[in-house]
Amino acid sequence: MTKMLKILSLLLVITTVVFAAGCAEQGEEGAEGAVEEMPTYYVGTEAQFPPFEIVDNAGNVIGFDVDLMNAIAEDQGFKVIYQDQDFSGLIPALQTGNIDIIASGMTITEEREGQVDFSEPYINAGLALAVTVNNDEITSVEDLQGKTLAVQTGSTGYFKAEELKEAGIVAEIKDFPHVNEAIEEVRIGGADAMINDLPVTNAFIAAQPGIIMIVGEPLNSESYGFAIREGNTELLEKINTGLQNVRDSGDYDELISKLPMYMEEEDAAEGNVTE
Ligand code: ARG
Repeated sequence: MTKMLKILSLLLVITTVVFAAGCAEQGEEGAEGAVEEMPTYYVGTEAQFPPFEIVDNAGNVIGFDVDLMNAIAEDQGFKVIYQDQDFSGLIPALQTGNIDIIASGMTITEEREGQVDFSEPYINAGLALAVTVNNDEITSVEDLQGKTLAVQTGSTGYFKAEELKEAGIVAEIKDFPHVNEAIEEVRIGGADAMINDLPVTNAFIAAQPGIIMIVGEPLNSESYGFAIREGNTELLEKINTGLQNVRDSGDYDELISKLPMYMEEEDAAEGNVTE
């Protein structure tokens, strides 16, 4: 009886395996039939960061980074699928292979260079300090003694705030997954000021005037790059070559021309100061 059962279950296993193999084969044939030659890359972004990335009413991710990445993809013959997620999870998602590219206004920093590979810089954007429009007490970083700062989690604004805290200037840091939440914290008085990428803060002010204003000089100058898994040289080359072609064709300038209202004059004029 047991022997019989064993034979039966063995038969069952064999049938299942053969059937599954058949399915797989069919699947492959199907894919071949569709002549699916273009590689598809998953692009991670935190899409509440206009003008670089934002979700439109139809639920599509749009913005400068998206336009530029799409132009590069078209030039280099690959497809992209955008994935909206928290900024602080982007590098881990890249490292584990959940995404292949980060296009998220990500600043090229030395620390991140140790975790990912960056493309050539594609735009400049420094950090700026902002407070509520009726705040006449804080006019620059020098006035941040004992103050609370709101920032986006894992952003360079966050790192700058940490520096200021370690230096014994800033008293507290409140970090939020999205820039809008940091702005809201300043608006309701839960934080005295916020540090964020200047063009993004400017875009917010243009869209919703009368809430916050930028004070003082930009805190630094940063360059954005697309991030790729370390050692993924094939994809890195595609992105850099594509970026260069998009610059040479004039398409890059066209995209940039939509941005100057948000940029520091110098950055907007040069498009890419880091070159
Ligand atoms: N440039 C800053 C950084 O790299 C902030 C970028 C935030 N990007 C975003 N899509 N939320 O840390």
